[in-house]
Amino acid sequence: MTTPPRVPVMIYGTAWKEQETERLVGLALAAGFRAIDTANQRRHYFEAGVGAALARAYRDGVVKREDLFLQTKFTDLGGQDQRLPYDPDADPATQVRQSFASSLEHLGTTTLDSYVLHGPTQRYGIGEKDRAIWRAMEELAQAGKTRVLGVSNVDRLQLEAFCQGAAVPPSFVQNRCFARAGWDRDVRAFCRERGIVYQGFSLLTANPHVVGHPEVARLAAARKLTPAQLTFAWTVGLGILPLTGTTDPTHMSQDLAAIALPLRPEETAVFEALSGR
Ligand SMILES: NC(=O)c1ccc[n+]([C@@H]2O[C@H](COP(=O)([O-])OP(=O)(O)OC[C@H]3O[C@@H](n4cnc5c(N)ncnc54)[C@H](OP(=O)(O)O)[C@@H]3O)[C@@H](O)[C@H]2O)c1
Repeated sequence: MTTPPRVPVMIYGTAWKEQETERLVGLALAAGFRAIDTANQRRHYFEAGVGAALARAYRDGVVKREDLFLQTKFTDLGGQDQRLPYDPDADPATQVRQSFASSLEHLGTTTLDSYVLHGPTQRYGIGEKDRAIWRAMEELAQAGKTRVLGVSNVDRLQLEAFCQGAAVPPSFVQNRCFARAGWDRDVRAFCRERGIVYQGFSLLTANPHVVGHPEVARLAAARKLTPAQLTFAWTVGLGILPLTGTTDPTHMSQDLAAIALPLRPEETAVFEALSGR
C-alpha cells in the first residue's frame, strides 16, 4: 500500500477553462487552494495555462512549489483531439514518456505529486495496451518523477485489475460520483480496503436531485450554508476527496470552507435517503 504524500483536502480542477485557465487558477490559489488537477489533454484542459498561473503565483510570492500538490494525467489517443502531446505512431510506453515530459514543461516542474491514467482504453476490463501504459507510468514513479500514481474513470473490476500484480499500485482513484450509485459505493469500498484515496468529481453536477432538493436547501439555510456546501461536506464525511472547478471566487471560498463542516445526524439522514442503495 502506498500512502499518498501530502494528501490535499480539496482539489481545484482545471477542465473546460480554455483561455480563462490562467486567471481562474490564479484566483483559486489566492483563495487558498493548494492542490491542482489538470491533464495533458488539450481537448478539455489547457495545461500550459495552469503552468502560466503557477509561474505567476511563484513570482508574486503567493505560493511555493513545495506547498502545492500538482496532479496531471496521461490521456490515450481515444480521449484526445488532434492537439496531441505525443507521437500518435509511437508505442504506448513512449507516448506516456512524451506526454509526461510535456506536462513537466507545461507546469514548470521537475516532479509531479500524482500522475493519473485518464481512463482505460476499453469500456470493460483492461487490456494489453492499458497494462503497457501502466508499466510506463510505474517506471516514472520508480524513478521518483512522480510521487504516486492514480487511475480515473474505472469501475471496481478495472481498479482491481490495475492493482493486481502492480509494482506500483494506484494511490488515487478519480471518478465521477453519482448519488444514485451510492456515491460510487463499490469503488469506494475497494479503495478503503486498499488504502486508496478516492477523488470525486461532478459531485454537484451529477447529482442535481440532491443539491436541488428542498430538504437539503432547508438544512443548509438553517446553518447559513448553501446546498452546494452541505453536499461537499456530506461527501467529505464519506471519505471522498472532492474536486471543484468553480469559476466563481465566492464559490471558491465557500467550497474550501465546506470541507471542515461535520454533518449533523438530521442532515446525514436526508443525504442517506437521497442516495441510491
Ligand atoms: N478524470 C476525468 O475524466 C474528469 C472528468 C471531469 C472532471 N474532472 C476534474 O474534476 C474537476 C471538477 O469538475 P466537475 O465535473 O466536478 O465540475 P465543475 O467544473 O467543478 O463544475 C461544478 C459546477 O458547480 C458549480 N459550483 C461549484 N461550487 C459551487 C458552489 N459553492 N455553489 C454553487 N455552485 C457551485 C459551478 O458553477 P460556478 O463556476 O458558477 O461556481 C459549476 O457549474 C474538473 O475541472 C477536472 O479537473 C475529471
